[in-house]
Amino acid sequence: MSLAGAPASHPLDVLTAEEIEAAVAVVRASGRLSETARFSYIALQEPPKAEVLAHRPGRPVRRRVRVQIVLGPGLDMVEAVVVLGQGRDADELESWTPVPGMRPALLFEESFGAIVAVMENPDWQAALARRGITDFGTAQIDPWPAGSFGLGHEDGRRIARCLTYIRATATDNGYARPVEGLIAFVDLGRAEVLEVVDYGLVPVPEASGTYGAEDVGPLRSDLAPLEISQPEGPSFTLEGNLLRWQKWSLRVSMDTREGVVLHTVGYEDSGRVRSILYRASISEMVVPYGDPGPMHGWKNAFDVGEWGLGRFANSLSLGCDCLGEITYMDGLLADEHGNPYPLVNAVCIHEEDYGILWKHTDLNTGNVEVRRSRRLVVSFIATVGNYDYGFYWYLYQDGTIQLEVKLTGILSTQAVKPGERPDHAPLLTRDLAAPVHQHLFCARLDLDVDGADNEVHEVEAERLPSGPANPWGNGFRPRSTRLNTESEAARITDTALSRRWRVVNPGVRNAAGEPVAYQLVPGPVPTLLADPASSVGRRAAFATRNLWVTPYAATEMRAAGEYPNQHAGGDGLARWTQADRSLIGTDVVLWHTFGVTHFPRPEDWPVMPVEYTGFHLVPVGFFDRNPALDVPPPPGHCAAEADPAG
Ligand code: CO
Repeated sequence: MSLAGAPASHPLDVLTAEEIEAAVAVVRASGRLSETARFSYIALQEPPKAEVLAHRPGRPVRRRVRVQIVLGPGLDMVEAVVVLGQGRDADELESWTPVPGMRPALLFEESFGAIVAVMENPDWQAALARRGITDFGTAQIDPWPAGSFGLGHEDGRRIARCLTYIRATATDNGYARPVEGLIAFVDLGRAEVLEVVDYGLVPVPEASGTYGAEDVGPLRSDLAPLEISQPEGPSFTLEGNLLRWQKWSLRVSMDTREGVVLHTVGYEDSGRVRSILYRASISEMVVPYGDPGPMHGWKNAFDVGEWGLGRFANSLSLGCDCLGEITYMDGLLADEHGNPYPLVNAVCIHEEDYGILWKHTDLNTGNVEVRRSRRLVVSFIATVGNYDYGFYWYLYQDGTIQLEVKLTGILSTQAVKPGERPDHAPLLTRDLAAPVHQHLFCARLDLDVDGADNEVHEVEAERLPSGPANPWGNGFRPRSTRLNTESEAARITDTALSRRWRVVNPGVRNAAGEPVAYQLVPGPVPTLLADPASSVGRRAAFATRNLWVTPYAATEMRAAGEYPNQHAGGDGLARWTQADRSLIGTDVVLWHTFGVTHFPRPEDWPVMPVEYTGFHLVPVGFFDRNPALDVPPPPGHCAAEADPAG
């Protein structure tokens, strides 16, 4: 973090509390805010890429703060930019742009207001009484983003659909006892219950879903201590938000919506830092549910744009979330009144042993060479309602970059009548089920492979037909197809053909005479299963493809658009790529949709063991040979131990 009051020394330094306060003061002093106005987003307005890359140490840095404001109880956003003065210049409101018809992410204060309004609502109380529940204090209300379904409640309002769960105690797991059939529509801006819908009685399950150590019976007692120690400390340094580890360097920031963002990721090679990634983050995600019924069919949470991963980042604790020699980075966000607040221990940075890096046993000479792999981990965990998502960026010594998302937390549940087996919701217990759903993330990956002018090629295996040129029928080869336009670059995965997408710099050649490249290696990941013409299909159009490529544009940051909450769809990638822009001779940005289709299992209850998804970015001819040859052998006598006589 920058020292309090110290001027920023780099254009990507994180915002300080003083900078947030100064920007909010300028907006307030404009006299354009009413009592009801709330700040839904405050962030550094990242300078244009060219300006960031041209920055040299010691030069002054012009700081801009981007502010999104919802003015009143209805919709309509304003986007303002404040330019902070340098020296004796005053801070100034640079722009004030109304964005009519758009809604912010759900606000915390309003969500709390919605919970109170539902609890006090007589229709909701009557619905609980019909189920034999009269102690309303045990109810848990979860406000959900309502989606866009053309209902009258949606017009001109910011609404939530509130679901109810019953807890036996204040610390109980409410998801064990969903109140099936009951939805309350709430006007968030006015904290007013618009309608309570009751689709009919299903008994509230009785079994407990607690999972604390004191709840689950005897704990296993055969775990010996496992300690990780680095007596000389870690091998990385963190100055401000500049992280350096061996040959890697990058900047790390925490955004209200995207969570951790990596900037200017480079690798030092022969004494110079070569650029790989200008910026990488989770630009959006969606969790669409597959049950077509009225109780669950509208559920499709856009957890970046409708809630915000950074806002829900956990404060991590040593020995629990992260093990070993840990460096924490705090986040600094702004609340809805514009006040800065710290997110303590929001980002965990540490090194991990990752097994072997490379090895060969020479059977002729008995010589053994082996190296240990170590990776640098930059991670955070966001809890959005019932789910917890861990985001782990890994940098490896061989030039590989990986994002792994760890999905855990608690399923969104439904109560089931005795003897029923729902088509769309596997049973967890006899009277509790969880609707099928997907978790689809869209990473925005602004690769700059040895500079910004890159091309993208799809590379996959080509099977050759048997014939004179392929007499044994064994032949196959890599086939590379350049993706020339946005429409050509809207692609899906094909694991059978090992399809991947190579980001090539045609202007820089490696020792073999080929252009340098990094490739996006997708995992075995799905696309959106909903009808593309459906509400969620239009709103999450980004999820209908695993790859999109766009020419870099500073304003194109969110895969589903800037304001997905209650948006009818067609924004973001769906809109930008309509222009079918050329991807040749330009700075390209990759958008990768990945994730899982979740058919819940009994083993996912009452809390899910971690499920993993993600992708790799791997150098392909970026280096002239294995870049990790210079990793020293492990201390000790590995080779000698391999020789029984030695
Ligand atoms: Co799931």
